[in-house]
Amino acid sequence: MHDVSPSSGQPRRRFLQSTAALALAAGAVAPPVGVGLAAFLETARRQATGAGWVRVTTLTALPADGVPRKFAVIADRQNAWNRQRAVPIGAVYLRRTGGWEIEAFNVICPHAGCLVTYSAERKGYLCPCHNSTFGLDGSIRDPASPAPRGLDPLEVEVRGEGEVWVRYRRFLTGRKERIEA
Ligand code: FES
Repeated sequence: MHDVSPSSGQPRRRFLQSTAALALAAGAVAPPVGVGLAAFLETARRQATGAGWVRVTTLTALPADGVPRKFAVIADRQNAWNRQRAVPIGAVYLRRTGGWEIEAFNVICPHAGCLVTYSAERKGYLCPCHNSTFGLDGSIRDPASPAPRGLDPLEVEVRGEGEVWVRYRRFLTGRKERIEA
């Protein structure tokens, strides 16, 4: 025999009503949650670049004669899920241009992202991938260079007793204009 009393269907009905209410509530909050998540991921993407002011070296580590030296940029890196402390996030060439004046370039070639090297013989920078050449001031030296722009300069400051700080940034490659990545 089937139980047809009204009370037998109540738990199932209550369950269906609760489920429907939850589904409606979830639909109501989905857009704000989606917007919040997008903002969070965008913030995380920016933080993952490790961009910002980073202490790179001291003035005494730079040759007084203006020869560039390459330095790793070490900083904390954070993405949406974890934070890494004191990891290499890039590298820069630094050179003294007089007294406490310093010039800084990102080592990333603006053509396709290889790493440039300094050639003492040529007194300039060279990209080994497709032979772009750059002068000491970062400008394109050989017009046949495939790089669409010169090396990317970075802001640099000497602080305190001679600490060298660089505002590390990366830029999109393959573009004539400088657009931060
Ligand atoms: S990546 Fe440097 S010249 Fe192509």
